[in-house]
Amino acid sequence: MKNANYGKNFKLGMLGGGQLGQMFIQQAMNFDVRVHCLDPDPDAPCADLASSFTVGSLTDFDTVYSFGKSKDLLTIEIENVNIDALDLLQKEGKIIFPSPRTLRIIQDKGLQKEFYAANNLPTAGFSIFNSKAEIQQTKNFPFVQKLRTGGYDGKGVQVIRNQNDFEKLFDAPSIVEEMIPFIKELSVIVSRNQNGQTAVYPTVECEFNPDANLVEFLFSPADISENIEKKAQEIALDVINKLDFVGILAVELFLTESGEILINEVAPRPHNSGHQTIEGNITSQFEQHLRSILNWPLGSTDIIQPSVMINLLGSANFQGKAYYENLEDILQLSGVHIHLYGKEFTKPFRKMGHVTICHKEIEEAKKIARQVKEKLKVISL
Ligand SMILES: Nc1ncnc2c1ncn2[C@@H]1O[C@H](COP(=O)(O)OP(=O)(O)OP(=O)(O)O)[C@@H](O)[C@H]1O
Ligand SMILES: [Mg+2]
Repeated sequence: MKNANYGKNFKLGMLGGGQLGQMFIQQAMNFDVRVHCLDPDPDAPCADLASSFTVGSLTDFDTVYSFGKSKDLLTIEIENVNIDALDLLQKEGKIIFPSPRTLRIIQDKGLQKEFYAANNLPTAGFSIFNSKAEIQQTKNFPFVQKLRTGGYDGKGVQVIRNQNDFEKLFDAPSIVEEMIPFIKELSVIVSRNQNGQTAVYPTVECEFNPDANLVEFLFSPADISENIEKKAQEIALDVINKLDFVGILAVELFLTESGEILINEVAPRPHNSGHQTIEGNITSQFEQHLRSILNWPLGSTDIIQPSVMINLLGSANFQGKAYYENLEDILQLSGVHIHLYGKEFTKPFRKMGHVTICHKEIEEAKKIARQVKEKLKVISL
């Protein structure tokens, strides 16, 4: 790939066709890059946006292999994909970013933690177990149990406070982590191209909804000292370089009372904690991902305006055809950007969209965000 001219004859294949894919396609279109998706759900957000949409399993070897075979470059928007098929495609000469090797490490929380330990990257202490029976020997309460593979949005993660909690232990290969009494959860998005050029975004701060275990509010930039900002960005750069990763990488971090920063986990794709970059930063995380996998120069990560991002989740008591209550009211508020993911049906806590509020004063953006949060509801009629 020698220049930035692609057009119809170049097929960028993407494993996954969800909302991350939707926002990626929106940016790829600006560069005349055609995106072709594979997703098991015929109604996935990318179904009628992709240049072609293949319905099929992301974890099935043959499906991923034959999808990949007919594309010029492959990428992902979800990490739970068949890596054996990607390995074979790569051996046969297909260009795949992020590489199957890095996906294999990241897909398994056990391998991921071992990578941090082996590379001197700060992370919570951990042990690896194969079954519930083995974990029952553990005496250091409280601890966090995480399934090695397949967990997402907090599913597959649980806190074990004492022996009474043992009955709820997952009986599957998992890791047990020291519980970190963090004061903030931070995230740094970083990208790298094949030339080794890197670009790091300013750190953001995430506030979780304890019921849904999903990000409720995200603040950009994070309210942290310059010193912490520098440390967080250095860690993110260190991880991406040590992984020899190409693409966009989200680095989830814990900040402790004493100013220590620990890596929680990384995601090898655009991430929920980078949605505000679409309007809030000079280059969005989606455009940056495209630039990095095509080995183009990376864009500026600077913040244009502070922003607050809210996930628009399905309301707790509604299931059925989605209706966005008070949408017109919130459009009257200044600096409000709506993103709906085109999902026809809502269910409790399903990610249906997000809203980014930009303002030159972050405190003002927070006030408007609270109003949006109160008014805009996803229900079904
Ligand atoms: N060692 C820990 N100490 C304290 N809290 C933790 C620890 N590990 C995870 N958590 C909490 O649990 C949440 C989910 O954990 P983690 O990010 O590992 O799971 P996940 O399901 O892969 O996440 P997601 O898909 O939401 O990013 C974290 O955001 C954090 O709030
Ligand atoms: Mg996480």
